[in-house]
Amino acid sequence: MIFDTHAHYDDEQFSNDRDELLRSMAGKGVGTIVNVSASLDSCERVADMVQDYPFMYAAVGVHPDETGSLDDESLTRMKELFTRDKVIAVGEIGLDYYWDNESHDLQKKWFVRQLELARELDLPVLIHSREAAADTMDIMKEHARGLKGVIHCYSYSKEMAKEYVKMGFYIGVGGVVTFKNARKLKETVEELPLTSIVLETDCPYLAPEPYRGKRNNSAYIQYVAAEIARLKGITCEEVIAKTEENSKNLYGIS
Ligand code: NI
Repeated sequence: MIFDTHAHYDDEQFSNDRDELLRSMAGKGVGTIVNVSASLDSCERVADMVQDYPFMYAAVGVHPDETGSLDDESLTRMKELFTRDKVIAVGEIGLDYYWDNESHDLQKKWFVRQLELARELDLPVLIHSREAAADTMDIMKEHARGLKGVIHCYSYSKEMAKEYVKMGFYIGVGGVVTFKNARKLKETVEELPLTSIVLETDCPYLAPEPYRGKRNNSAYIQYVAAEIARLKGITCEEVIAKTEENSKNLYGIS
């Protein structure tokens, strides 16, 4: 079944139909969802929400855009959430020089501290990196050796993807791969072994074709799987089965 490694179901875009939508997922071929926090507030929300849905797990971490709200005390509060059931990863964390909401120094500081938290807790990491390829790689080499995780919504070169794979990380592929202008990502997918790819929505954002621009949800991953299957000349079922296996290995879910 479909394994969505990265979703944001606490987003207000789901306020009107969240429960109904989530309860319909199994019927649409979705087996597992990892609900990922971005802001400090959402850490608590995602950790709460997964207790209501047996097929859902949580990742707790603070996105680079939101690092301005962090201090030692908030890190301690975050850390407490990992004692709860089904909180299985640290994320999403990283660097974002596209929005550039916070200084690069501050983003780097909290990226490193959250990587250290993942090491301390022995949990996988979900990495967000936008227009910050070199700095992200530098920090990953210095502080993420031996960790497991996903480079989420991967947008850099195929060479760099191979380097991350060599370091033991998975490449997260979502709706963008279905876009006509996503030549670079399509090439990356063609060259990477299926054993290194996991599927994701980043919903409510980044809906695949034919829903580009609309609200995304985990069931739409079938369009992502279909495009990966086309690029690799294999069946959609094979893509869904293998990426599900990869994701379960990554998160340690049996
Ligand atoms: Ni995300």
